[in-house]
Amino acid sequence: RMASNIYQAPALTFELISKCSTTRARASNLTLPHGPVQLPMFMPVATQASLKGLTPEQLEETGCRLCLNNTYHLGLKPGQEVLDAVGGAHKFQGWNHNILTDSGGFQMVSLLKLATVTEEGVRFLSPHDGSPMLLTPEHSMSLQNSIGSDIMMQLDDVLVTTSPDKARMRLAMERSVRWLDRCIAAHKKPESQNLFCIIQGGLDLDMRRECCREMLARDTPGIAIGGLSGGEAKDDFCRVVETCTAMLPDLKPRYVMGIGFPEDLVVSVALGADMFDCVWPTRTARFGAAITRKGVFSMRNAQFASDFGPIEEGCGCASCRPVSEGGMGITRAFVHHNSAKETVGAHVLTIHNVWYQLNLMREVREAIIEDRFPGYIRRFFGDLYADKK
Ligand code: GUN
Ligand code: ZN
Repeated sequence: RMASNIYQAPALTFELISKCSTTRARASNLTLPHGPVQLPMFMPVATQASLKGLTPEQLEETGCRLCLNNTYHLGLKPGQEVLDAVGGAHKFQGWNHNILTDSGGFQMVSLLKLATVTEEGVRFLSPHDGSPMLLTPEHSMSLQNSIGSDIMMQLDDVLVTTSPDKARMRLAMERSVRWLDRCIAAHKKPESQNLFCIIQGGLDLDMRRECCREMLARDTPGIAIGGLSGGEAKDDFCRVVETCTAMLPDLKPRYVMGIGFPEDLVVSVALGADMFDCVWPTRTARFGAAITRKGVFSMRNAQFASDFGPIEEGCGCASCRPVSEGGMGITRAFVHHNSAKETVGAHVLTIHNVWYQLNLMREVREAIIEDRFPGYIRRFFGDLYADKK
């Protein structure tokens, strides 16, 4: 009876602690090689081994204990030799908490229009010197072993278009399963690094179900749902997430890749997902936008020039918190003043936006545990659309 809510793999422990009685939302504790994290959670993206504009200490201060790095970027620079010499990405970036690495294929296909995918892997021209390169499942795993990430993602065949070419979609789905087998075979450190599979299959629910069955048979310690975040309609998005989570085991973490709008996070949790990542909260901060309960606001707007309130009233982030409470006491006027040429505006907004996303998931978790998640969702959407009725 004791262990019926715990799943133990060589490099992670997943403990389901609460299930919402009316939605599929869950709260759980995930213990990884670099410490425990509480789910549901949002993972900020530190593409180049840093969260743009933040020191590792500032990232830690937001409460983040698991951030993303990209295999593609770290493989190019600093490169595998430097990563091996320093002893992995944790040491390289001064981050003693958890790291999840995406496998690289998605970044190449979405960033480099010239990438071509074959059964071997993803072919592309180096953005540094134009030389031809090939990322195979084996090479991605070798790089992720050198990075030493706590969670590694399989190389998958990702289609960036939502155009319904069913034959190509099937090929990508089946190839992703074959590539998972190659990743499992190439993984050198299964006792200390977790490899997650990625469910593909586009918006076709039967293809998604088939992919779930194949991926689940490989028994990875965690499961991701990919191929979303491409501008699909919200009802299609929800149907795909719901179809997948319905088939997934209760006792493994579920990660929906590339999701970051607050409303998408809250809805995805209701559909049974636990983990999310997206560059949007940090990218939008660099463009001067603050995420708040009432929506997203551009601090560059003239109305903030003489607004001496915090970025968001009541926010507990290091930027918004008053100086008397150990924070920076940043005002909207200050952000407005520094959001065009001076980078400090981007720094304080990045801290705020990351904190907002992490805190949203902390509140959601608390609501699930206290069995008041449906009420939380109603209030969340009520606040978000209060001024738009
Ligand atoms: N990031 C967002 N979506 C995806 C996906 O489908 N695959 C991978 N590898 N990364 C992603
Ligand atoms: Zn704040």
